[in-house]
Amino acid sequence: MIVTMDVLRDLGIEPSNPGAYDGDWIDTTGDVLVSDNPATGEQIASVREASAADYERVSAAAHDAFLRWREVPAPQRGECVRLIGEKMREQKEALSRLVTMEMGKILEEGRGEVQECIDIADFALGLSRQLYGLTIQSERPQHSMRETWHPLGTVGIITAFNFPVAVWSWNSMLSLVCGDANIWKPSRKTPLTAIALTRIAASVLEPEGFGALVGLVIGPDETVGSALLDDPKVPLVSATGSTRMGRIVGQRVSARLGRTLLELGGNNAIIVWNDADIDMAIRAIVFGAIGTAGQRCTSTRRVFAHAGVIDQLQERLVQAYSQVQAGDPMDESTLLGPLIDRGSLDAFTQAVETAREQGAELVCGGSALQLDGPLSSGAFAQPTIMRASADLPLMQEETFAPLLYLVSIDSIDDAIRVHNDVPQGLSSAIFTMNVRLAERFLSAVGSDCGIANVNIGTSGAEIGGAFGGEKDTGGGRESGSDAWKNYMRRQTSTVNWGADLPLAQGIKFGE
Ligand code: UN1
Repeated sequence: MIVTMDVLRDLGIEPSNPGAYDGDWIDTTGDVLVSDNPATGEQIASVREASAADYERVSAAAHDAFLRWREVPAPQRGECVRLIGEKMREQKEALSRLVTMEMGKILEEGRGEVQECIDIADFALGLSRQLYGLTIQSERPQHSMRETWHPLGTVGIITAFNFPVAVWSWNSMLSLVCGDANIWKPSRKTPLTAIALTRIAASVLEPEGFGALVGLVIGPDETVGSALLDDPKVPLVSATGSTRMGRIVGQRVSARLGRTLLELGGNNAIIVWNDADIDMAIRAIVFGAIGTAGQRCTSTRRVFAHAGVIDQLQERLVQAYSQVQAGDPMDESTLLGPLIDRGSLDAFTQAVETAREQGAELVCGGSALQLDGPLSSGAFAQPTIMRASADLPLMQEETFAPLLYLVSIDSIDDAIRVHNDVPQGLSSAIFTMNVRLAERFLSAVGSDCGIANVNIGTSGAEIGGAFGGEKDTGGGRESGSDAWKNYMRRQTSTVNWGADLPLAQGIKFGE
């Protein structure tokens, strides 16, 4: 508890906090939202939620700030992002602890998540001196063509509970160097981390008169969420969460011809072939399936193992699972923290039951885990493996819990076919020493996912690559590579520096 108070004080979290920021903290008047620690049920602090009227204030202030910010040279915008990254570095331990306290992921993963925020700030700083466009050869004499990338406007950022700081950072660090303003609508399950991070960014931007670039609205979907989706001053909504949520966001924003960047559910698989380095495969599967208690969108949910190695793999996985310590996520020896809430735990036990009814066989785990003392009210799930056939209907769905299906496969054709035979398409991996199989998995007829790896697992991507996936995962790409282009508008310019006016395609018009 002493640690808790220190962390909150360091990050400027009060017992009761306003749930909206527009350059100033707004005196919100909505309902009181209490944030509690999923491991202990302890109340951490509360937030007074934003109303639709508060949203309008945030949106207007963000737009005003955008109009000024777009004129600041990109490298100077990058300097602000650099300073935000520095503040994150200074506060890394406190922020990591708050992530763990509020979301329940183990502290080491909390630190990893904050490191992603720092890394993307560095990446964005470098980009601020790039944001390159093309020059294009013109078909006409004495003409030049080029593409320029310009700031877009205000970006709406909707984030989920499972990565309460990294996903905002992916979006906001890039969009800030691109010259945009942001409005963040975080998960209502993790409002305090959102306030802490907004405070950090605001401490850099506010003295420059640009606090409103990092707008924040914490409140219900029906009011502030709805206002964000329908706001004509928000040309891009970047949303991370369930496919169900993404469909609503996609349809609503498209109806006004706004853009979306969607990063939705995954149903990620690893193929383990008979020539795989089994030690490595085991470590990757355990981290992928149990890390963040199976609540990453990149979590490993399905393993397709060659029939020749599946029994050995199963035995060793069970052995590894038996050593996973569940408990207080703040304790450095814990590997498995709680699920976010009771609802998730119920969905997990229900999924195990349904899978059983559909013919899957329980190998280990399968139940809620009742811990003692201060952890007795935490929603802990046993790490679970089920042996299943490839056509198990439930394997089509993402269960946000440490539930892994293990399937025996004879041919690589079948492995790739069943691997791709789900609605989602986020992350994937193959473990093999055979370069032919590896390259085939990465080819046009291999994995259909946005991320396809060889000899590393499905989760834990670096920020430097584009992150996102196909099909029901929504098609968006965030974070590294050229994902910055999402946050800018492209302008194509043709300049005639000659004295004639030749038309393209050789057209003669009235000559
Ligand atoms: C998410 O679960 O929404 O690749 C993001 C990973 C992390 C990001 C996950 N870098 O697992």
